[in-house]
Amino acid sequence: MAILDRFDIKGRSALVTGAASGIGLAYAEAMAEAGALVTITDIDGEGAEREAARLKEAGHEVRFDRLDVSDFDAVTAAFDAHAKAYGGLDIAFANAGIDTGAGFWNPAGHRNPDGQVDTYDPKRWDKSIAVNLSGVFYTVSNAVRVMKQTGRANGRSGGSIICTASNAGLVTEPIVGLPYMPAKAGVLHMVRALGLELAEFRIRINAIAPGPFVTNIGGGWLKKDPVARKAWDAIVPLGSVAETDQLKPLALLLASDASDYMTGSHVVIDGGMMLGKYQ
Ligand code: NAI
Repeated sequence: MAILDRFDIKGRSALVTGAASGIGLAYAEAMAEAGALVTITDIDGEGAEREAARLKEAGHEVRFDRLDVSDFDAVTAAFDAHAKAYGGLDIAFANAGIDTGAGFWNPAGHRNPDGQVDTYDPKRWDKSIAVNLSGVFYTVSNAVRVMKQTGRANGRSGGSIICTASNAGLVTEPIVGLPYMPAKAGVLHMVRALGLELAEFRIRINAIAPGPFVTNIGGGWLKKDPVARKAWDAIVPLGSVAETDQLKPLALLLASDASDYMTGSHVVIDGGMMLGKYQ
């Protein structure tokens, strides 16, 4: 097969969680631009509706659903609605995530009184785990259920699942809230475990571990605070924090048959942050 044909996802269907903003929106745009049938889901229903309308206006096939990934029954319903609308499911992005803060350091390197392990609010812990870890399990569980059905129905077995992890699941990031790190490490290890479990069904699952991307996470401080932005630019070996557009080619690689020998793995995309300058 010609090399570019291996990236072809025209006519396949993709559901993205947390897709009204940031990295999830970039995934949804990449899928739509490549000709897939896309469902944008987000807890922010208005945002999901707005972005779906914008992409439809540009000529793409996109629907939306308001979805809180920490509600298992709602995730089940969203995947069923997607499969009904598009005749199955080929690609799923378990992307929705939050930083409940506070890190044990603030960006200036001072200790946060409410970010220490002995002061951390257990409600913040529970919320972070519910969205960042359980939400990924709920999403992947339903994606696999529908992909197994789809494979039987359309004769094309398999599918591709992509989970958004983080550098923070691989190394320590003192300015993000404590539970974010074990949640993201948990996502990476869940992906390894499921790579093995799902291989027999030709369902591949991989993770993307981004470094600093300009999004609305944590209140969007990388957008709003030019001093923090400059400080982060200075510690990225490739020279700056990233725009979400820079994630699109990797999303297409992992979603398409171009990565048909990859499963249970993760790809770090961080401008070299983990190489040491930051640590
Ligand atoms: P963002 O805040 O711009 O987008 C996250 C989206 O998820 C928002 O639209 C939000 O409404 C939605 N969301 C929040 N809680 C939800 C829930 N319970 N159910 C469904 N949707 C929900 O943030 P960003 O940065 O695009 O985050 C996307 C993913 O990327 C997250 O998993 C995050 O942890 C991860 N990430 C982000 C990095 C960055 O530098 N921006 C670095 C590493 C990982």
